[in-house]
Amino acid sequence: MIKVSAPGKLMLFGEHAVVYNRPCLVAAVSQRLFVEVEKNSENKILLDAPQMKVSDFAVSLTDLDKEQPKEVRFVLEAVKNFFRKYNIESGLKIKTESQFSAEYGFGSSSAVTVCTIKALSEIFEVKMAEKEIFDLSYKTVLDIQGVGSGFDIAAAIYGGVIYFLTGGKRIEPLEIKNIPLIVGYTGVKASTSEIVKAVKVEMEKDSEYYEKAYDDILQIVEKAKTAMGNSSWPEVGRLMTENQGILRKFKAPSVEYGVSSEIIEKLIEVCQRAGAFGAKLSGAGVGDCIIALGENRGEIEKAIKEAGGTPVSVNVDYQGLKIENNL
Ligand code: MEV
Repeated sequence: MIKVSAPGKLMLFGEHAVVYNRPCLVAAVSQRLFVEVEKNSENKILLDAPQMKVSDFAVSLTDLDKEQPKEVRFVLEAVKNFFRKYNIESGLKIKTESQFSAEYGFGSSSAVTVCTIKALSEIFEVKMAEKEIFDLSYKTVLDIQGVGSGFDIAAAIYGGVIYFLTGGKRIEPLEIKNIPLIVGYTGVKASTSEIVKAVKVEMEKDSEYYEKAYDDILQIVEKAKTAMGNSSWPEVGRLMTENQGILRKFKAPSVEYGVSSEIIEKLIEVCQRAGAFGAKLSGAGVGDCIIALGENRGEIEKAIKEAGGTPVSVNVDYQGLKIENNL
């Protein structure tokens, strides 16, 4: 039996623009997802994922090509892609377990994909470099969602704070420590792929506007990279608010408010009033989490709570993908 784990992630700067060939800054967070895999002699994949309310799920190897329930789709697509690439076939027993809710937008789908591929590479003794794990995981996520930059996969594999360019064209781990990061869950689960597709519809109507906005975000990402390197937190906070100002104007036709939302705006406002250096949405928008930067964590978290959000206590996790045990 092998057990591996990977951290969740939070987008710091550059969401949406990173889908369109611009860089972003992402941090791995100190809540992890675990996957255990062992071989079995049946020609079946058996799956337990208690957090996803999946127990004793079974699918025969010959049915891996069929459409699978969404709770198990990433694990099974990862297995299928791994078996195809390395010409392997085997029954498996898989268990997933997460320290964070799949609602937060911490990247449970990408973390589970990365962990599954890593566990399979260990169990079948296939040597895979980190970039090969990235490429196969990214293919898996794209096979299912059709869209995405892959930044969440990089965070799960490499950990820490990363400067990332679309599709893993650049994955640069940064030496940034002690970010005074505060996280608030909006209470709303957002579907990243739906929002990305909705923004694409808007972009096709006015590509000039969106290309310019993505270039402006790129400038913010570059400045934030430098400011974070210098631990200039008031400046990083100011850049967060500036990034939010651009995202606020993005439309997403299927949702009333756009990429930002009433609850996101409210949580950002109360963070600022409580003394945060700055705040913004994190990820696709509409729901999931907001992030703020500030030295007075207690007061900011209290303000988030009073405004109807849930403070989520996380730090940056510098440990990426990891083997927990190999028995
Ligand atoms: C979603 O967490 C961030 C987006 O930029 C999508 C992506 O990069 O895959 C909106």
